[in-house]
Amino acid sequence: MTESAGPQRAEATELSVDPGTEMLFGADAPLTHVMATMRAMRRLKPDPVPRELLTELVRAATWAPSGSDAQHYGFIVVDDPDLMSELAVLWQDCFDIYKELGGTVVPGADSDRHQRMYAALEHQADHFAQTPALIAAVYKKSSAEGFSPKATIELGRRLGRKRLAALAKATTAGPLGEASSIYPACQNLLLAARANGLAATLTIWHLFRTSDWHAALGVPKGQAIYALIPVGWPAGNFGPVRRRPVDDILHWNKW
Ligand SMILES: Cc1cc2nc3c(=O)[nH]c(=O)nc-3n(C[C@H](O)[C@H](O)[C@H](O)COP(=O)(O)O)c2cc1C
Repeated sequence: MTESAGPQRAEATELSVDPGTEMLFGADAPLTHVMATMRAMRRLKPDPVPRELLTELVRAATWAPSGSDAQHYGFIVVDDPDLMSELAVLWQDCFDIYKELGGTVVPGADSDRHQRMYAALEHQADHFAQTPALIAAVYKKSSAEGFSPKATIELGRRLGRKRLAALAKATTAGPLGEASSIYPACQNLLLAARANGLAATLTIWHLFRTSDWHAALGVPKGQAIYALIPVGWPAGNFGPVRRRPVDDILHWNKW
């Protein structure tokens, strides 16, 4: 679930920008520079982040597209230290499960890069109670809505039972449709955080204890958390990201 400490490790990677590149922040920072220097930042200062700024991150999230422009998202921003202390227990447990499941036993796990990431994960879990803000990205489950029986009967009449069954399987509803509607918003939020000099990381290991997170954050029935994003002022530095070279992954016309 975390990083790329996986199979690609054996493959070539390259830096997005020159390591000496000056880091730019604020509304005028070029988008490509922000994208190329937006690292998963897990070491956070405990200093609070103003609610106005957190609101701006969520506003940027809403500028992302969603399937059918449904905009069925909701964002829970936790900034209450008492609640954060409670959530720290859940977070630690999810991290422990990740470790148990072999999160560290991956090709390249002994690389310096992986060791650094792992130390950051440990640090984050140890200091989670001091996380200034945690943003839960929530999306409405399409199953919560469903099609009306009348509309389904009408469609069945027009398409025939076989095509209707095929359509039901191919439907864009379901977790894939919901995920693809909420993750663009999460990416916008991460980019807005980076542009404002804030550190953030998209995480999904809450999935190991979904119902407990839903209960702790009061997520209503029919909604689901798709990501938990810890946010704060960085204790580390922004800089180039290391990724597979575009020539290795780009295919023109056919794979
Ligand atoms: C779908 C997805 C799930 C992720 N899940 C987790 C997670 O559960 N915990 C975590 O610490 N980081 C998680 N990450 C963050 C990745 O590990 C991180 O984006 C990746 O290692 C790249 O890091 P870098 O930008 O610093 O190079 C996730 C990222 C994505 C896109």
